[in-house]
Amino acid sequence: MSATTIRVATAAPYDVVVGHGVLDRLRGLLPAGVQRVAIITPESLEDLLEPFAELLDGLDVIVLQVPDGEEAKDWEVAAACWESLGEEGFTRSDAVVTLGGGATTDLGGFVAATWLRGVAVVHVPTTVLAMVDAAVGGKTGINTPAGKNLVGSFHEPVGVLCDLALLDTLPRAEIVAGLGEVVKCGFIADPRILELVETTEPASLTPDSPVLRELVERAIRVKAEVVAGDLKETGGADGHPGREVLNYGHTLAHAIERATDYGIRHGEAVAIGCVYVAELAARAGGLAPEVVGRHRAAFSRVGLPVSWSGADFDTLLATMRVDKKARGNQLRFVVLQDLARPVVLAGPSEDDLRAAYAAIGEGAA
Ligand code: GLY
Repeated sequence: MSATTIRVATAAPYDVVVGHGVLDRLRGLLPAGVQRVAIITPESLEDLLEPFAELLDGLDVIVLQVPDGEEAKDWEVAAACWESLGEEGFTRSDAVVTLGGGATTDLGGFVAATWLRGVAVVHVPTTVLAMVDAAVGGKTGINTPAGKNLVGSFHEPVGVLCDLALLDTLPRAEIVAGLGEVVKCGFIADPRILELVETTEPASLTPDSPVLRELVERAIRVKAEVVAGDLKETGGADGHPGREVLNYGHTLAHAIERATDYGIRHGEAVAIGCVYVAELAARAGGLAPEVVGRHRAAFSRVGLPVSWSGADFDTLLATMRVDKKARGNQLRFVVLQDLARPVVLAGPSEDDLRAAYAAIGEGAA
């Protein structure tokens, strides 16, 4: 099967391979000389394990099964993985392979980052969200009682393998939620994504669809370019927000996720959050009404929510003030001046923040 290779040109460059039925590329992404591989994967993907492990035939393979979803991002789960690696005498020339969604790649990346101060990791994401976001860019982490992703490190993979055939069994709602991050990339950097979404019948965006593949590839290219320019999120050049741009829509999205006790999918919250920052930019930065309208049209076309009023604004504001991206008491948002022209808006007025929230509440159930 044909595969597309996208180079992530950071100081330690690596490839993201994308295609349909391309798992046989896994061996080629492992560093030369690897003898032993630890596959970190959730219990729910047990059915995939046997054929997947066969791809590593001839190597010494151990399997570390972890809980599904966010439950995996726990220090006790990480500690159990370290324990197993210790028992197996895992060395610096061995490698971790993650097979799973974003929580698995975050946890597995963290285990790889911390074992012997860093061993090689290859991510094999199994959701759209993990393909276009979590698996690329080297952010790893676990959650603590104080919040999500507060303990972690930057540890880039040596390769990422995105096989769209792995999406065949993914519930439709998860594919749609993953498109939230894809459409976000359309607004911050690649408007061709928006044209593709606007001109494609949404139901046809199935795992074997060439358009879905193009959307995934384009979103990965956006992320690859951003992290190559600002891996550690210290800031971009010429007024560009740098890696912070990937947080477009995320400040309110994180507050909504928390207010719903994570009962909303991340991509759904991101869609609402992007419409919110578009409304905010219309008030605080003069973003044209057509671009605001295009946010509602593009996200809702793929089946994502664009209105929400599920919590009072003061609760959300309190959470946004402790967002990782806030500086001191000043709220910061990535907003658009126009399509693909992102800037940071620091310290918007509370009136604008409230008015933008009222605007996304209109039409909410
Ligand atoms: N998910 C946002 C980032 O990787 O920076």
